[in-house]
This record gives sequence, C-alpha cells and structure tokens, in this order.
Amino acid sequence: MNETLTQRIKIQQSESSRVHEVDFNNLQFGRIFGDHMFEQVYENGSWGEPVIKPYGSIEINPAMNVFHYGQAVFEGMKAFYQDENTINLFRLDEHHARFNRSCRRMCIPETEFETFVTALEELLRLDKNWVPKQMGTAFYIRPFIFASEDYLAARISDRYNYYIITSPVGAYYAEGFNPVSLSTPKGYVRAVVGGTGEAKTSGNYAASFLPAREAQQKGFTQVLWLDAKENKYIEEVGTMNIHFLINDTLVTPELTGSVLAGITRKSVMELAADWGYKVEERRISIDEVFETSKSGELKEVFGSGTAAVISPVGLIEHNGETIHIGSGSIGDFAQRLFDEITGIQYGKLEDKHGWVHSVKV
Ligand SMILES: Cc1ncc(COP(=O)(O)O)c(C=O)c1O
Repeated sequence: MNETLTQRIKIQQSESSRVHEVDFNNLQFGRIFGDHMFEQVYENGSWGEPVIKPYGSIEINPAMNVFHYGQAVFEGMKAFYQDENTINLFRLDEHHARFNRSCRRMCIPETEFETFVTALEELLRLDKNWVPKQMGTAFYIRPFIFASEDYLAARISDRYNYYIITSPVGAYYAEGFNPVSLSTPKGYVRAVVGGTGEAKTSGNYAASFLPAREAQQKGFTQVLWLDAKENKYIEEVGTMNIHFLINDTLVTPELTGSVLAGITRKSVMELAADWGYKVEERRISIDEVFETSKSGELKEVFGSGTAAVISPVGLIEHNGETIHIGSGSIGDFAQRLFDEITGIQYGKLEDKHGWVHSVKV
C-alpha cells in the first residue's frame, strides 16, 4: 500500500513452512497459527521498529505488568479467500479505530493505521497458503497489545508489546444453523457505564467466564447481559451483539458505554436500512422482548459478531420464564443478512459500502 512503510517493516521470513501440518478439512478455532507474526515494541515514549518474523514463543518475565494489572487490549477480525490472487480483509478501518479506542481507555499508546494495514498485507502475502479456500472458512486475525514493563506497581506501564497473529478457521455453520439459547444472569453484570465494557480488553472476558459457565451448567448456550444499573435493559451476549426484529423494525440495543461496538452490528444495521427496514438503536428492556414475543410481534432474534457473522437465537430465559423464537432454524431476515455479509466478504456480491480491502497476493 505505502512503499516507505512496507520497507519500514523488517521481514524475517521463516525458513520452512508448517502449513502442511494443517488439516484444512478439520480446522478448529484458534488452535494453529500462521507461519509469521507481526511484532512491535513500545518503549522510551515511542513505538520501535515494526517486524514480521516467524511465529513462535516470546520471552516473558514473571514481573510483567500485564500479569498483575491486566493492561491489555485485542481485536478479532477476518480475511477471506476470494481467488488465487485475492484475499479480502473486512472493515479493517473499523477494527483499527476500535483497537485505538480500546487503547485509549486502557492507557495503552495508540498504533498507526498505515503500519497496521501494511503489516496485514504483508502477513497475508507471506502466509497466503494458510488462508482456507472453502466457503464458510476464514483466516482469523488477532492483533493485541499488552503491558510488558517488568515492574510490580499498579500504574501505567512504560513498555508495551504489540503482535498480530493469524489462524485459519473452519466454517462456523458446517452442520447448519443451530439457534442458541440465552439466559439472563442472576447476580452478575458484564460492565457498567463508565467502566471498560466498550473496550476490547482482556479482563472483560475473564470476568464473564464464571457467569457463562453457570449458564452452560443450566443448559443454556450463553448469557444475555442486562444493564448493570437497573438490570432491565438488554446489552449484549458473550462475544456477540444482539438484534430484535419486531414486526418490520430492527431494534438494536444502543451503545450506552458498557456495550462493545460490534463491527458486524454496524454492518447489520446499515444493510437493514439499505433494504428499507426501520432501524432503531435504542434501549430495549427484557420485558419488551417477552411482551412482543407473547403478542406475536417478535419475529426474529439473532446475535452478530465476527466469529459466526449471524447467530440465530431460539430461546431466552429470564427469571424462570422462557420464550421460544422461530422454528428451530435461522429466520429469513437473519439468513438474508448472513448471505449478504458473507457474499461481500468472499467478493461474490458487490461491495457497495466499501467494506472490503482486497489484498493482491
Ligand atoms: C463482547 C463482544 N461483543 C460483541 C462482539 C461482536 O463484535 P464484532 O462484530 O466486531 O466482532 C464481540 C466480538 O468482537 C465481543 O467480544
């Protein structure tokens, strides 16, 4: 993209490739990693030389700040195989903007967009054979930064390590759409307004594991988070945002400060508006969901996120009451969104919004 920047990223190519170890017909999420990774270290007040080098272990010191105080952010995005010469990155400007917003909230130095784009392009070129080809598969990209100063003090670190690692992932819906079941948690909240809920920071996820495990032990797939103050308004689900189709209106919980601003969420709302649906971004209470379900106005409920794109919701439990949505599969509206978004990602449908950054490899 930018020659000076491309030259600035020092590339150490791996001597051999591990790609032959990959069983592309049986890919698991996040278990095997591309041959190369990006690395940049921040110290003495600035980011150092960006490097792409063979994927491998990194040296850590037990006193590293991140292990004790959790100053860390990450992103999750995907690249898609279009043809032999083209790999598509989806909404990378949005991902980078969110990455920097997360950094700001966590007092981590922001990163340059040009370095991010160039690093991704170079990683895709170097590891193009790692990008799975079948429809539904993708090349997952995980940028992350953590506080790496070796200092046992609860204060902003002076040193940070920034990496981008990659992983080929299988089709999420290889066996068809299985609607998920959700349960509102008792006695737990995910995030409060003014807290860190809208940042993609590691601690948010650690804090959600116990309520998620308890929901799973009761037979539900995931937790449906309500707002922390009134325990009434719907926020989001695990690693997805949530949407409700009430009659012909798409209702999406608004970004109050405690919800992660999902990029798939944004795409869903933009497409629904394109198609002439009424799109409302507002507070929606769990009571409204139950009432519209009982009155027959609640047509579809689905989650949105990079991992699954669209995830149909078939059941919601709240205070011992349960509603069932749909008929055990994906609704027509959710299916249309899934087809449109994935079609754009694989370069099969016209990209009217300029969401795709195609990389020639
Ligand atoms: C907490 C949370 N909410 C929502 C999402 C969905 O966001 P996106 O569509 O950008 O993947 C994610 C995944 O990144 C997440 O971790």
